[in-house]
Amino acid sequence: MECLIYPTAEELSRHAATRVALTVRTIPDAVLALPTGNTPLGMYREMRGQAAAGNLDLSRARLFALDEFWPLPAGHGGTFAAFLRRNLIDHVRVGAFDHLHSDAPDPVAECDRYAAAIAAAGGIDLAVLGIGRNGHIGYNEPGVAPTRDCLCVDLEEGTRKAAREYFPGFEPPSRGLTMGLRLILSARSVMLMASGTDKAAIIAQAFGGPVTLDVPASLLQQHPDVTIMQDVAAAAEYPCTGR
Ligand code: GLP
Repeated sequence: MECLIYPTAEELSRHAATRVALTVRTIPDAVLALPTGNTPLGMYREMRGQAAAGNLDLSRARLFALDEFWPLPAGHGGTFAAFLRRNLIDHVRVGAFDHLHSDAPDPVAECDRYAAAIAAAGGIDLAVLGIGRNGHIGYNEPGVAPTRDCLCVDLEEGTRKAAREYFPGFEPPSRGLTMGLRLILSARSVMLMASGTDKAAIIAQAFGGPVTLDVPASLLQQHPDVTIMQDVAAAAEYPCTGR
């Protein structure tokens, strides 16, 4: 496990974007799993800038959203698909973009479709992740079994509360669709981003504590190619020591 600390969230964002750029330089048609949330906003801003400057080429990359609310009407501004369009896809040329459909009538069938699409693309080259305050990655909430490639989960109240912060005035649905832990752990490379003091405790638990389904991100300790990228505030209780 590689663990990197940056002095500011801006530095973290810049290096995260550069890491994505390096991935697509090596593998132009890379399959990328992309997160939502406040943490990656700066990375997407940097990616837009790097693309405009000719330093990031996503024109052959295959992008897959990590997770989604369910149910929500397609085109609702609160969907993660809309988030990714607003922050990245509408601004840069991408090879392909797929996402879990928030309006799918049958979430199980939608998950099967999505997992099959990712498998057909050759699996994930780089999974970019944030982390929830309860240790979730994607929407794999504590206790969710690691045996699925894609699943529909009940969201914890704290998770829904956090979502209200970045979608003001919008009441998030009580369920989510997400790439499962099995699929995330099968990614050839994983990078997890964390910024701010409110992530410090969960980062310490996830990477300084035992591997447990109670803290889904802790399963990444078993992944052969994972990089934790954090700013100093998030690293306050886990300053990468011993790694
Ligand atoms: C949501 C997303 C997760 C993300 C998490 C952290 O729950 N579904 O994929 O990692 O938020 O969000 P933030 O970066 O805003 O703390």
